[in-house]
Amino acid sequence: MAKKIYFGTNLKMYKGNGDTVAYLSALAARAESLESAHDIELFVIPSYPALKEAVETVNRQTGKRRIIIGAQNMSPHDCGQYTGEVSPLMLQELGVGLVMIGHSERRHGMRETDEEENAKVLAALNHRFITLLCIGETSAQKNYGIADEVLRSQLKIGLHGVGADRLPLLRIAYEPVWAIGEEGVPASADYAAQRHHVIKQCLLELFGDQAEQIPLFYGGSVNPDNAEELISRPHIDGLFIGRSAWQADKFDALIRRVLPKI
Ligand code: PGA
Repeated sequence: MAKKIYFGTNLKMYKGNGDTVAYLSALAARAESLESAHDIELFVIPSYPALKEAVETVNRQTGKRRIIIGAQNMSPHDCGQYTGEVSPLMLQELGVGLVMIGHSERRHGMRETDEEENAKVLAALNHRFITLLCIGETSAQKNYGIADEVLRSQLKIGLHGVGADRLPLLRIAYEPVWAIGEEGVPASADYAAQRHHVIKQCLLELFGDQAEQIPLFYGGSVNPDNAEELISRPHIDGLFIGRSAWQADKFDALIRRVLPKI
């Protein structure tokens, strides 16, 4: 069997409860018909208000290829005076399986720091969530030639204190900020592969050979035309997709286009 491949999407603040349920129902039906010859993991990260019904929707899936539901953010605290925040215990109660931490829109829109992402990473891993840490340089950092330094410091601070026993739950998404969203320019496969090489080296420094088990995803303007080339590169184990995945039929078509080439 070919290498395991990961496909995920963050629905950002685009789909409410009804749209999320309709989307997941359509995606689940398609996912079940993907040939079992392919070892893939699928995850979808809806908005908070849609999480309960999202989990219920995928729990109705019958096949073994069940979509994992993730949260877009999480407080590092279990409970307390944190108005407007959502705790790990609340997400566990809903049956959420994954937590995304440090998406560029949290880092840059909400001014979250690497230290804050680190506290969330540790809390998410302690609560046994699949923990997806997003990292990526801005266009200014790229132009100054410090992309690799930025990635290394985001990893070293963001993963500080993570024990080797938690690594099976860890995922890293490399998403250059300049590549994300409507204004984004997709990274070339060569550029993405070079950054993934740096990320891999840094993880090997941090965790030794145990780092081999951490899947690395590329995100930022992934589309049907660049997906195959990106996933064929070393150390790109998955694709983390926004706009090109928000219609179930298009996401399914992108997955099928990529899979036979693996
Ligand atoms: P995009 O979003 O694919 O629409 O560029 C990527 C992301 O924000 O994760």
